Amino acid sequence: EGQAESIADLVGETVLVTAGGTREAIDPVRFIGNRSSGRMGFAIAEAASRRGARVILISANAVVAAPAICELVQVTTAEEMREAVMQRLSEATVVVMAAAVSDYRVAKVATQKLKRNGARVLELEPTEDILQEIVERRRAGTLAIGFAAETENVLENGRAKLERKGVDAVVVNDVSSGETGFDSERNAGSFVTREGVVEIPAMSKVQMAGLILDQVVRLRVKRTV
Ligand code: CTP
Ligand code: CA
Repeated sequence: EGQAESIADLVGETVLVTAGGTREAIDPVRFIGNRSSGRMGFAIAEAASRRGARVILISANAVVAAPAICELVQVTTAEEMREAVMQRLSEATVVVMAAAVSDYRVAKVATQKLKRNGARVLELEPTEDILQEIVERRRAGTLAIGFAAETENVLENGRAKLERKGVDAVVVNDVSSGETGFDSERNAGSFVTREGVVEIPAMSKVQMAGLILDQVVRLRVKRTV
């Protein structure tokens, strides 16, 4: 179980949360996307609001309705998400990158709908790593939390991402089962910091949001003492 709703332990914090999955256009009617529903990020945004934080929610193509109590910015592509995050970063004391951001975009987006015409190769170019830019540009003291959806070597990959990106914590999800993670009501994983690993057993995304925020509060307290 997460914290009781009455605990206002995030008063004074501004939490910037990204949610959903970005989409990259192929042509006017097609895109490259992913199966992120937005549920995990929305659950964190809503729980943070209830716990007293001001919440800026940057959402990409979520399939569920956004919590009404947050300030909502809607974006489509990775580049739009990057711009929205950078525009609001200076306000944030905590950033949670729960969105599934496309690693690639189509190098030359077709201006007309592509016609069926035999085999076709799409050239992709890398997008910017938003989380990395957050870590570089954040004000001192701003916590940066990343997510990592992994299908193999879950903990090792999570630890490697923590170091590579220089974030304060990584929430690692095992998305290999299909029962939890992408496009599901439930989730499971681990909260990885430099101090160690807190296992998160399978639970609802709402419960997991509470647990993640408990850990954020713990990191915050450790910093300020
Ligand atoms: N992320 C980001 N910008 C990107 C790609 C990812 O900010 N262009 C963020 C995600 O929101 C997540 C974290 O980085 O919080 C980790 O994303 P993940 O896809 O697991 O890691 P990558 O660094 O993209 O590595 P890979 O996909 O190769 O595992
Ligand atoms: Ca990625």
